[in-house]
Amino acid sequence: MPAIGLGVFQTPPEATTDAVVAALQTGYRHIDTAAAYANEREVGEGIRRAGVDRADIFIETKVWISDYGYQETLHAFEKSARKLDLFILHQPLSTAFEKTIAAYTALEKLLADGSVRAIGVSNFMPGHLAALRERTAVVPAVNQVELHPWFTQPEVQAANAELGILTQAWSPIGGITSYRGDGATSTFNDPAILAVAAAHGKSAAQVMLRWQLQLGHSVIPKSVRPERIAENFDVFDFELSEAQMGVLGGLDKGVRGGPDPDSITLEAFGRPIPEE
Ligand SMILES: NC(=O)c1ccc[n+]([C@@H]2O[C@H](COP(=O)([O-])OP(=O)(O)OC[C@H]3O[C@@H](n4cnc5c(N)ncnc54)[C@H](OP(=O)(O)O)[C@@H]3O)[C@@H](O)[C@H]2O)c1
Repeated sequence: MPAIGLGVFQTPPEATTDAVVAALQTGYRHIDTAAAYANEREVGEGIRRAGVDRADIFIETKVWISDYGYQETLHAFEKSARKLDLFILHQPLSTAFEKTIAAYTALEKLLADGSVRAIGVSNFMPGHLAALRERTAVVPAVNQVELHPWFTQPEVQAANAELGILTQAWSPIGGITSYRGDGATSTFNDPAILAVAAAHGKSAAQVMLRWQLQLGHSVIPKSVRPERIAENFDVFDFELSEAQMGVLGGLDKGVRGGPDPDSITLEAFGRPIPEE
């Protein structure tokens, strides 16, 4: 899986095709979407338009909780794609874990059939991972979780590493500290990150992505702006020192921007995913 992918959460369908084309033309070969983002079709359209060989592109999408269950999740695969590389559960359902297990069992079948190249999970905390491992056979290839310098989830990183699961960072540049934050402070204007960025002649976003890559994380930064899509990919010509890695690693505030995974219930967050 390419280390950098384009994220498309909150990218409106009408902007998605252009963002995907811009990313593929920049050199990205990995796109992260989800049934719940309502833009999978436009991701496919961007891939067709960009003129890059499909075999060279890694497509990742997520099953929404409303489609959990064995048959339901097999059907969700049909709704999502004809051809996918990585298929993951978007959230653990702590209050309906049987459905989560059944959904993951459907992913295992899709993997065994060769319908997908890899399967995984998202927003699974160590307890969810342990409960999943007790009941299923295939270790998830990735666990996609909120992870940026202000929220580093060391216990999740450790659990992933122990199980051999790749940590994939969502909001890898802390976008959520900006679009869900106080409007004034965010990772983008954190003075410590800006100081490291200035030392390299790079932006805060580039330094955060470099930090993630040096930690061995997969990253999926989102942008709809071609210049930022290019900026977020231009992170292979510099390296952070151990001290600079420590600076970014020391900024954790221990406060998540996204919802607590245990607060995700069918009652509060369930909604139908259309057939097409
Ligand atoms: N599994 C989950 O539950 C979950 C949850 C959230 C996100 N995700 C995935 O992770 C991806 C990324 O997360 P995210 O969208 O929350 O946050 P992000 O990628 O950390 O940040 C995106 C935000 O930062 C802005 N931005 C992008 N590049 C920038 C740059 N170089 N300088 C300054 N601002 C920049 C974007 O605005 P513009 O578009 O205007 O540039 C957007 O508002 C999502 O798209 C999605 O694929 C998954």
